[in-house]
Amino acid sequence: MHGLMKETEQLARQVLELVLARQRQDPWPLGGVATAAELARRVGPTITPAGLGGPAALRRWVEELGPATVAADHPRYLAFIPHAPTEVSVLFELLVGASGIYAGSWLEAAGAVHAENEALHWLADLAGFPPEAGGTFVPGGTLGNLSALHAARHAALVRRGGARPARWRIATSAEAHSSIAQAARVLDVDLIDVPVDVYHRLTGDHLRAALDAHAGDAIFAVVASAGATNLGVIDDLASVATVCRERGLWLHVDGAYGLAALAAPRMRPAFGGIELADSFIVDPHKWLFAPYDCCALVYRDPGQARAAHSQSAAYLDAITARDEWNPADYAVQLSRRARGLPFWFSLAVHGTDAYEEAIDTTLAVTRQVADEIRSRPYLELLIEPELTVLVFRRRGWTAADYDVWSARLFATGTAFVMPTHVWGEPAARIVILNPRTTFADIAMVLDAMR
Ligand SMILES: Cc1ncc(COP(=O)(O)O)c(C=O)c1O
Repeated sequence: MHGLMKETEQLARQVLELVLARQRQDPWPLGGVATAAELARRVGPTITPAGLGGPAALRRWVEELGPATVAADHPRYLAFIPHAPTEVSVLFELLVGASGIYAGSWLEAAGAVHAENEALHWLADLAGFPPEAGGTFVPGGTLGNLSALHAARHAALVRRGGARPARWRIATSAEAHSSIAQAARVLDVDLIDVPVDVYHRLTGDHLRAALDAHAGDAIFAVVASAGATNLGVIDDLASVATVCRERGLWLHVDGAYGLAALAAPRMRPAFGGIELADSFIVDPHKWLFAPYDCCALVYRDPGQARAAHSQSAAYLDAITARDEWNPADYAVQLSRRARGLPFWFSLAVHGTDAYEEAIDTTLAVTRQVADEIRSRPYLELLIEPELTVLVFRRRGWTAADYDVWSARLFATGTAFVMPTHVWGEPAARIVILNPRTTFADIAMVLDAMR
């Protein structure tokens, strides 16, 4: 036992040293990819009857498996939605994993749930939700959207006295994230595609017209995007919320990426109307500087979510009988890690002003890059950035040219960028949400398009 402890301590030091080395080296290499056959050949079998032992297993990770992953927190990781956890959030992540906390119930995790709830209430307050608002942290926006929409449908079912329609429907625009269509498939409901305005936004007028065209359909929710992923556009939440109130419809706002900008008070007007939503999500693992995986799911009336999500079983009665805040009651989940804690710890350490500053930094770099794109004759900015998504075109390029550009930057370890499509045409897309991403980083990527 003593020998085992000594080995484990050595391993702990090695692991911690790797974490610190990664934090010291700025930036850490971008990483790479390999085929399954290459990895099998290089790494060999790792699950063996006798076990490899700590040092050998760790070596496999450090030398072969780890390098075949991409560092989404690299300052020139500009594809999809990047990642930028603070150092302290990453360190706390280690402690959460080592703490053996079952964070599904207050009984078993009161201290953790209290801290998570403080972080959720910070977000709820920024959105202008009432004091009784609350929710939980789930693995990601996909699970957050699904959980909110299940709660919305349950609330509608209760309002209808339990009478199920032939088909349920959700109204949203084509700009909504693919996870909304995924949630509709899981819930077995249909989507009503509401047209967008010239700025690609869902608006109250378009929504009203679409609802009128579907009069008689059992619509239980409207989903608006607060930062649509491809273009970064924020729907007109105020007019959409007004229509939802008129029609008694649950408004869910998917702010997985964009709602983080609530942390910068001068951005609050862009989200006017969010205070009238019934639920929203925002992913701290995106623009709120927390490690994967972490989505904050907040309900205006958590009682409605509890009615939909609370599980009942003989062995759980001891928990459900207690009048306490059990995170398992607010989403499609039971066992859960306290995934909101690294976010909470980072907020507690740095304070909310630091969050405002970090968000402002990324917005300022984005504006600077937008000006730069406008100034380069071979580029064309396609949409004025509202948040930190830049979509632009390289004049004369085909889809194959964008692919070559993307592949070359990745193969040389320079940057991770991915093309997209705008109005059916291939285009470049860059997302800036790492405060370490500088103007010079992006200039390097634009230079590669000359
Ligand atoms: C607006 C929006 N909603 C939902 C999601 C899905 O979030 P996750 O990948 O955390 O499941 C994303 C991811 O990029 C997103 O941008």
